[in-house]
Amino acid sequence: MAGRLHIRTFGCQMNRYDSDRMAELLGAEGYALTDEPDEADVVLVNTCSVRARPERKVQAFLQRFAADKRRGRTLVLGVTGCVAQQHGERWLARIPELDLVLGTDAIPELPAMVRDAHGGTRRCEVGEDPDGAPRFLEAHPAHRVPGISELVTVGKGCDNYCAYCIVPLVRGRERSRPAGAIVDEVRRLVEAGTREITLIGQNVNSYGRGQAEGVGFPALLDRVAGVGGLVRLRFTTSHPRDFSEELARRFGELPVLCDWLHLPFQAGADPVLKRMNRGYTAAEYRDKVALFREYAPEGAVGADCIVGFPGETDADFMATMDLVEAVRFDQLFSFKYSPRPGTASARLPDDVPAEVKAERLRWLQARQAEITQEKNRAFMGRTVDVLVEGASARGDQLSGRTTTNHIVNFIAEAGRIGSVVPVMVEEGLANSLRGRLALTAA
Ligand code: SAH
Ligand code: SF4
Ligand code: F3S
Repeated sequence: MAGRLHIRTFGCQMNRYDSDRMAELLGAEGYALTDEPDEADVVLVNTCSVRARPERKVQAFLQRFAADKRRGRTLVLGVTGCVAQQHGERWLARIPELDLVLGTDAIPELPAMVRDAHGGTRRCEVGEDPDGAPRFLEAHPAHRVPGISELVTVGKGCDNYCAYCIVPLVRGRERSRPAGAIVDEVRRLVEAGTREITLIGQNVNSYGRGQAEGVGFPALLDRVAGVGGLVRLRFTTSHPRDFSEELARRFGELPVLCDWLHLPFQAGADPVLKRMNRGYTAAEYRDKVALFREYAPEGAVGADCIVGFPGETDADFMATMDLVEAVRFDQLFSFKYSPRPGTASARLPDDVPAEVKAERLRWLQARQAEITQEKNRAFMGRTVDVLVEGASARGDQLSGRTTTNHIVNFIAEAGRIGSVVPVMVEEGLANSLRGRLALTAA
C-alpha cells in the first residue's frame, strides 16, 4: 500500500505532536506527506474542541472532502483528535463519506483502520488506555524527516479541571511518560538533525506526580539538557500554581534552556480566577513572573487569557487589563469565553453579552498589540542569536527564532539552516523582527 497523505491540524501542540506520529505510522506503510489535500489519497483532520469556533471550522473542512467523495473521488477520509474523541460514533452517522474516527488514545490503531477503509469497513476507535498502562507513541525519524525544531511530549491528559476547559474530558487523566523514553526520543531526534526540542504537556510542571520513578520536571529538564548536540530546549505549558523556584532556577543553570516562559493567567480578577478553579490569585501570578525574571532577566513571557467568563464585570475585566499593563507580555493569546459541553462552567449562565465580549477582546488585543510592537522595536540595533529553522513564511528569506521565541527574518543562504547565527535587528514589526546577518570580522 502506498499513496499520499494530507493531515490538517487544528488546536494545540498536543495535536501537532500527534499529527507527526500519525505521519510516521502511515509513513512506515509507504504514505508520503503532501501539503496539497486535493492530491492526497488519505486526508485526516486532527481536531480541537477547546472552543466552539475551531469545532465549526472542522465541520466545514470535512464537508468539502465529503462532497468530493460524492462526486466520485477515491479518498480515505478520517477525523482524529479531540472532537473525534468527544463525538465518536456520531461522526460516522453524521457524515456517510467519513471512513474513520480516531480518538486521542487510539492512534496506534490508525494503520489498521486505513487498511480497513480501503476494504470498505468504516471504524470508530475512541477507547481510552487501560488504567495504569498508558500507551505513548514514539517518534520515528526514519519515517518522517524531523525539523530543526521538534516537539516531545512529557505526558498525556490534565487533572486540573479548570472550570471552562474541555481538555481533561477529551484527553483524560494526567499520565506522565517515563523519563528514559523522553530522553531517548530527544536523543533520536537530535541524531537525525533536530537542534531545538520543546517539551510539551498541558501542565508540564506537574510532570512525574504519582509516578513511581520519582523524577520531577526540573530533574527531567536536567536529563534532557544533557543530551549531546541539543542546542536549545523549551517547554510549554506551565501552570502558575505549579511553577516553582526549583524550576525557575533552571533558567539560570542550564545553558540550553531558552529564556522564554509561556505562563497562561486566564484572568486578572481574583473572584474570576476562583470561579475558574485556577488555584492562584493575580498577585501570586505576578510573583511567579517575577520569579522567572529573577533567573532570566532578559527572558520573554507569553500567556493565554479569556475575556467574558461567566460573571465577569467591567471591574474584573479592568483587572485583566491591569495585569497586562503590569507584566508587559511579549506575546498574548486571548479568547472570548466559549461554554463547552460537560465542563463545570457550562452550568453557569453565559451572562456576558456577545457584544461585550467582543468589545473587551478588541480593547485587550489593541493594547497588547501596542505593547508587543514597543517590545519588538526595543530590539532594533541589537544583535541577537537566531537558530535558523528554514525559509520565511513568504519564502524569500530565512527565518528562525531568538532564545526569547521572537521570530526573525533575514537574508542568508540556505546553508545556514540548522545553525545559530548572529543577526542585527533592523526593524521591529507587529509580529516579528527583521534583520541582517551580522558577519563577524574574521
Ligand atoms: N493547558 C494549557 C492550555 C489549554 S487550552 C493551559 O492550561 O495553559 C489553550 C487556551 O485556550 C487556554 O489557556 C485558554 O486560554 C483557552 N481556553 C480554554 N478553554 C476555553 C473556553 N472554554 N473558552 C475560551 N477559551 C478557552
Ligand atoms: Fe485545561 Fe486547565 Fe488543564 Fe490547561 S490546566 S488543559 S486550561 S484544565
Ligand atoms: Fe484543542 Fe485538544 Fe489541544 S481540545 S487545545 S487540541 S488538547
